[in-house]
Amino acid sequence: MVKILANDGIHPDGITLLEEAGYQVDTEKVPQEDLIKVLPAYDVIIVRSATKVRKDLIDACPNLKIIARGGVGLDNIDHEYAQSKGITVMNTPAASSSSVAELAFAHIFSMARFLHRANREVPTGSFKKLKDEFSEGTQLRGKTLGIIGFGRIGQEVARIGLALGMNVKPVDLIIDGAEINIQLFNMDNVKLSVSMPTFDMEEVLTTSDYLTLHVPASDGALIGRDEIARMKTGAFIINTSRGGIVDEEALIDALNSGKLGGAGIDVFENEPNPRPALIGHPKVSVSPHIGAATQEAQGYIGLELADRILAHFGDDK
Ligand code: 3PG
Repeated sequence: MVKILANDGIHPDGITLLEEAGYQVDTEKVPQEDLIKVLPAYDVIIVRSATKVRKDLIDACPNLKIIARGGVGLDNIDHEYAQSKGITVMNTPAASSSSVAELAFAHIFSMARFLHRANREVPTGSFKKLKDEFSEGTQLRGKTLGIIGFGRIGQEVARIGLALGMNVKPVDLIIDGAEINIQLFNMDNVKLSVSMPTFDMEEVLTTSDYLTLHVPASDGALIGRDEIARMKTGAFIINTSRGGIVDEEALIDALNSGKLGGAGIDVFENEPNPRPALIGHPKVSVSPHIGAATQEAQGYIGLELADRILAHFGDDK
């Protein structure tokens, strides 16, 4: 019997498919330090971003056949090493694009109208005083939306930005443009297709009112002091990609000096213990790494992983 450890959980629909095929799916979380003892008894491990699957763990599990990442980023898995050992590594790069893009906009809407502060301050503050303080909001229509990283999520962000009437400017190291299709819900005959070019980094940095990041993890910060210095005064940064892509110290300094108007941050350098000065900053709209954490995205992820695991063992439906 195929034994699967879903150490960061998996949507019940995925479990149902696997159990119907006779697979054993264990979802009780094994602490990271105990995995080296427990995982050798399994054929498959399914993880999200919390569990790390590093070289030492891989070496301890010669019978492991699949490492499945329910989500996009593979930075918590030594995936090249695993593949060199004959282990199949799979992820679900498309399933959460809409959810991540929508979270980026949740932060953008929040900051444009001070909702992140209003939610904290109205319950205990003076209604009249706060009405005055939060009366300088901005409309998104006509504002420039810079998108760093124009893959699946970046393109989904572009689609929403265009529909809102924003001036959308993507930049990407590899992709030099994309066809953005806007399909109105339930109206098959109403479609809009936009050929969206990419721009150079300098133009995107210097002209964006909102700058949102949709790139994989990297060793250094993509947005540090130099890049922030070139941005418009009062601009906003949104990071729903990976902690460390934006230099957190430089960001806090720029928020304090008034260089940046605010930041929407879902991912942090030191998860799950983010820097208090960042999460408590009044100009930061904060969320706890929940870009892909919607019922829909997790449902798609669970089904896609189950299908692919079944196919791997020759039990595809
Ligand atoms: C991803 O890479 O898919 C996201 O960062 C989601 O991470 P999570 O599965 O831990 O929510």
